[in-house]
Amino acid sequence: MIFGVIGAGQMGAGIAQVAAQAGFEVFVQDMATEFLARGENTIEKSLARLHEKGKLPETPADILSRVTFTTELNDLAHCDLVVEAIVENEAVKAELFRSLGRIVKPSGILASNTSSIPITALASASGRAEQFIGMHFMNPVPLMQLVEVIRGHQTSDETARIVTETAVRLGKTPLTCNDFPGFVSNRILMPMLNEAIQCVMEGVAGKEAIDGIMKLGMNHPMGPLTLADFIGLDTCLSIMEVLHRGLGDDKYRPSPLLRKMVQAGLLGRKSGEGFYKY
Ligand code: CAA
Ligand code: NAD
Repeated sequence: MIFGVIGAGQMGAGIAQVAAQAGFEVFVQDMATEFLARGENTIEKSLARLHEKGKLPETPADILSRVTFTTELNDLAHCDLVVEAIVENEAVKAELFRSLGRIVKPSGILASNTSSIPITALASASGRAEQFIGMHFMNPVPLMQLVEVIRGHQTSDETARIVTETAVRLGKTPLTCNDFPGFVSNRILMPMLNEAIQCVMEGVAGKEAIDGIMKLGMNHPMGPLTLADFIGLDTCLSIMEVLHRGLGDDKYRPSPLLRKMVQAGLLGRKSGEGFYKY
């Protein structure tokens, strides 16, 4: 199977890495060589950490040799499965899928790693709704077990079967759900992160106390503010907006502080500052 990944950010790099680790040939596309270089660097660092601990059956160089980085979407024409991991914006993703629907060979499956955008709407844009699916990896991809598989309204059983089997070949555990705003993962996770941000805004406690209470008290690996910084505050805001719009309940209203931080360019780990400095 030839694997394609669009977007070489934190998620795209991780998806390309696990696909190459599983032995697939991988093509990674992004808009500019600087973004591709950053993605390659992310993969190199992660592989080096795994190699040091003896967790790789091959050298990092052997694994990386299966990955081709390109700015040309046409280079993905022969892919059997293309996973999109670009910015969490419905219009931008739909535009990309309109192009991919024309470029990728007719038997190819198109998947989105979107955190919340309706799979059915992206499937329509692609012009191949039966061969379209949500393949939602968790961050950091090389370490996290889950792939949330989201069936769009017209996703075929065959597409769901191939994608589920592929997730297993990537060493992941696929769990399937239907196409509702935020799916299962972010419908449940994101309101908690939003509420933690609201607690900062209202002065319920300091940042470290909020994170510490949730980390130590609930046995979460990261406090909610640390996790929001890790995900990216722009992505968190986009997801809250999809939940608010899609479910129509004010309990999903994005915290004004979250909105303000994104407006200020404080996006978390990826921009160097969010609730904490990196
Ligand atoms: N690649 C390879 N190895 C990595 C790595 C990476 N990207 N990141 C961390 N590691 C390794 C570290 O080297 C370390 O190894 P050792 O234990 O052998 O030293 C180990 O993983 C643990 O790392 P750290 O000590 O740095 O930190 P940690 O113990 O806190 O673990 C974590 C890191 C696994 C990320 C953990 O904090 C965690 O599980 N956090 C929560 C992550 C989470 O909730 N993800 C889901 C986000 S929501 C989402 O993804 C969906 C969405 O749509 C927004
Ligand atoms: P990111 O900002 O780290 O990376 C996005 C990448 O996409 C960038 O390299 C950017 O240059 C590239 N890009 C943007 N528009 C493009 C286009 N039209 N064509 C090609 N490349 C383009 O973002 P991320 O955190 O990797 O998130 C990517 C997707 O994965 C989003 O849909 C997000 O919701 C989802 N997701 C994120 C997380 C997370 O924790 N961050 C977890 C699961 C899913």
